[in-house]
Amino acid sequence: MKPIIFALFFIYNYICGFAQIFDSTLTPLLDKSTAPFAFGVASGDPHTNSVILWTKLYTQEPTTEAVKWEIATDTFLIQPVNSGEVFPEWQSAYTIKIKATELKPNTTYYYRFKYKNSYSAIGRTKTAPENADLLKLAVVSCSNYEAGHFNAYRLVALQNDIAAVIHLGDYIYESGSLPNPDKPKVRYHIPPHEIVSLRDYRTRYAQYRLDADLQEAHRLHPFITTWDDHEFANNSYSGGAQNHQSNEGNWEARKQVAKQAYFEWLPILPDTGEPQVIRQLQFGNLADLWMLDTRIEARAKQLTSPYDAELKNPTQTILGKSQADWLIDGLVKSTAKWKILGNQVMFSDFSAKHISKKYQRNLDAWDGYPADRNRIMDSLYAHQIQNIVVLTGDIHSSWAFDLARQQRNKKTYRKTPDNKIIGAEMVVTSITSTNADERVGKPLAKFAQSIIKNRVANPHLRYVNIIDHGYLLLELTPQYARGSWVYTPTVKSPSAEVDKTVKWQTHFDNNRLHRVK
Ligand SMILES: [Fe+2]
Repeated sequence: MKPIIFALFFIYNYICGFAQIFDSTLTPLLDKSTAPFAFGVASGDPHTNSVILWTKLYTQEPTTEAVKWEIATDTFLIQPVNSGEVFPEWQSAYTIKIKATELKPNTTYYYRFKYKNSYSAIGRTKTAPENADLLKLAVVSCSNYEAGHFNAYRLVALQNDIAAVIHLGDYIYESGSLPNPDKPKVRYHIPPHEIVSLRDYRTRYAQYRLDADLQEAHRLHPFITTWDDHEFANNSYSGGAQNHQSNEGNWEARKQVAKQAYFEWLPILPDTGEPQVIRQLQFGNLADLWMLDTRIEARAKQLTSPYDAELKNPTQTILGKSQADWLIDGLVKSTAKWKILGNQVMFSDFSAKHISKKYQRNLDAWDGYPADRNRIMDSLYAHQIQNIVVLTGDIHSSWAFDLARQQRNKKTYRKTPDNKIIGAEMVVTSITSTNADERVGKPLAKFAQSIIKNRVANPHLRYVNIIDHGYLLLELTPQYARGSWVYTPTVKSPSAEVDKTVKWQTHFDNNRLHRVK
């Protein structure tokens, strides 16, 4: 580039904000020896012949130099099966995302990037199978950096036989805080304030992606992600959020910058148009997976009372009509053995009336949007569709529910054809985000857990744990769908240990959950 053009380009970039991609609080966290690939590599959305590859340059200088990529089946990338180059753009904060195509199904690949004379780490990924008799998926949610070490991400990274990691959201948290000696946290967010601007959100993602455990999980497995509320602000809905105040600016503007940052950092790439989290993936004849957005695109504002006359109104929607139509159409057409929903908030009808009249319903979950749930369940029964597994995050605790049209009707839900069990909901606990014992102490949390287990109030509730952190391993075969809740011993210090594993499974065409050793 000629000096004058370079100078003009630099001034243009500087004025447009190049120098301000990240908050200055990020600088001390960056080890310069890892530049320009300090944020590692990632892959995502595996199909039978393609996968998305991701990296992001960290450079202090404006650049127009190409980033080269290559993908191979051998660990040293001696014989690439595909390669190319892309040009980083400061508008996307030098995000590099490409769709590697012409790949073979059910095959492990290795990939890397090159910028000038620097190579990235070598990433590992895997394409989806055309047919499969066994499929293992790690399911994760709720990784609050301040709440602890990402030990569960480390365990996921070490799990060598999984096809992909399904992330159900709360990948980052929007809160900020300054160190308080009276209430110390395991670690602290940067920037130290609540994130609102594009630079804030970018900086927060950068901090998370400098975590060695999360970075390694991304390097070793393809991720299939969707967002929940904290990628935006707590208890968000289409038109706002509980944690968005008018003095924090316009909600639509905040939503847009949060979305932009999300798609800059996560390995999602559309074939055409804008990226979106609502999409379907297939794992041969064994499983179809629908990734949902129950938060941002169409969700109506949460009601505050379960007695509100609007509760059952179809306008009190969590999916919106077009997403619900798309999901039901896909479920009806699917020929896969297992139909998996990648969902954010609890789908099951759960009553806590026996515990607290005031908090008897979680109106931030599907219990606050019963018309949409009824429409989906009615469609499933009308088309005699079963073998459903709903995967859920959001609430920092583990649950397993039998799935039926009237789940709390204990007289009929196991017996009558119009209310038979047609699937299971498996709720994954948090990677680190605070759960019950960290809020109220272990004795009280254990007591609360024993009350929640009341089978009279909730006969469909088969398992609950409101104390431990970890991840869920979903194992699918033609015969069964097994959820293994894998728990870490602590989040207060780094650990790669497994504390315990609890397994529940359903059988194909039977669907009633039972515990296995
Ligand atoms: Fe969460």
